Amino acid sequence: MEEIVVGIDVGTTKICTLVARVEDEDVLRILGVGIEPSNGIRKGIIVDLDAASYAITRSVERAEQSSGIEIASALVSMAGAHVSSINSRGVVAISGEVVDDYDITRALESARAVAIPHNREVIHIVQRGFSIDGQDGIRSPNGMHGYRLEVETHIITAAAATIENLRQCVGAAGVEVQQFVLNPLASAEVVLTENERQMGAAVCDIGGGTTDMAIYVDGKVWHTMVLAVGGNHVTADIAHGLRLPVAQAEEIKLQQGYALRAEVGAEDYFSIRPFGEDKPVQINRQELAHIIEARVEEIFELSLQEIKRSGYDGLLPAGMILTGGTSALEGIRKLATEVLGFPVRTAQPENLVGMVDQLHSPAYSTSVGLLRWAMKIHENEIAFNQGRKSRAKGEPLMNLDAAKNWLKRLLP
Ligand SMILES: Nc1ncnc2c1ncn2[C@@H]1O[C@H](COP(=O)(O)OP(=O)(O)OP(=O)(O)O)[C@@H](O)[C@H]1O
Ligand SMILES: [Mg+2]
Repeated sequence: MEEIVVGIDVGTTKICTLVARVEDEDVLRILGVGIEPSNGIRKGIIVDLDAASYAITRSVERAEQSSGIEIASALVSMAGAHVSSINSRGVVAISGEVVDDYDITRALESARAVAIPHNREVIHIVQRGFSIDGQDGIRSPNGMHGYRLEVETHIITAAAATIENLRQCVGAAGVEVQQFVLNPLASAEVVLTENERQMGAAVCDIGGGTTDMAIYVDGKVWHTMVLAVGGNHVTADIAHGLRLPVAQAEEIKLQQGYALRAEVGAEDYFSIRPFGEDKPVQINRQELAHIIEARVEEIFELSLQEIKRSGYDGLLPAGMILTGGTSALEGIRKLATEVLGFPVRTAQPENLVGMVDQLHSPAYSTSVGLLRWAMKIHENEIAFNQGRKSRAKGEPLMNLDAAKNWLKRLLP
């Protein structure tokens, strides 16, 4: 059977729609690409419905044209400061002699029954692990004997109204949201090796408006966070510091930017011609690097603070895997290592076939990650009720039938 997967990465700087065919188990053939500058989105959040709808529609249309496939539904990326997450434990008595799907579903429901305000929507429930009668570390409890089943989950929620706006914009492009996927979880599908995932590592996707992180330990997501700061802030600092228009600041960041001031010669100058002025001006490259370093350093300091706050900072022997457009900044890996004090590498999508020219860049980790996410239904992740606008009072927190069907698909 031919399987087509579609992902729409709604970023702060670009919208990227990808259509791919799953060939074999592991191979994705990219059939269609639609990359459009983003509009109406700031720090991962929609601030102008019309502008965002238009940009998304154009991106979808381009992907449809290049693939010749009409897009009806897609996985959609999500980020922004409105996202938050908690760890929660669910406990139930095992109903029969052995654990069955029903018990697992009830355990998940009990974990989910933590107080989630009505104005928040659950995006992911990641199953981190099960225990039976106090025995930890059980991966697949189905069929096991016992009396008491516990599940450890990581629950990611988002502001319902913000999510609804995003759903509406994607809907305006004629596309139904199959599932929302948190940015760093999609990126991790592309940049994280199985070994790193098992050892313990943090994925950090620094985009234009957000820095998204996910911490993996023992093969599972343990913690996620979204910071509302990214490459656009670096550009804004340059524009401010060197008194340049933003477009020009962006251009010199890409062409001359460097993350470490100490590594740039003090006498290193380049010249630009500011718009509307006749004479070119000389810019000191060290001064530019100084501006960039200050902001990027701050981003890593905030990231480190978040990692420490999560309490998992001692559990990351594989260090940090950096991706997202800003990770292409020269010298960033070294600066990150200095600030964080653990190993850092940068990563981007690899081994793609088809229309892939632009996609081998760290800016497209989330986009390609959405396709990978679609390819493999996650063992440890369930997204319930995403299609619902709001839950009526007294309605179950989770649709048990849907959950059971879902579990049947993944459990032997
Ligand atoms: N070579 C480079 N050096 C420095 N910055 C770069 C480079 N290439 C891209 N960027 C920056 O990367 C950012 C865009 O990254 P990306 O495409 O990952 O963002 P996005 O997905 O649209 O946004 P977000 O994920 O934050 O919503 C821009 O700020 C851009 O300036
Ligand atoms: Mg992004």
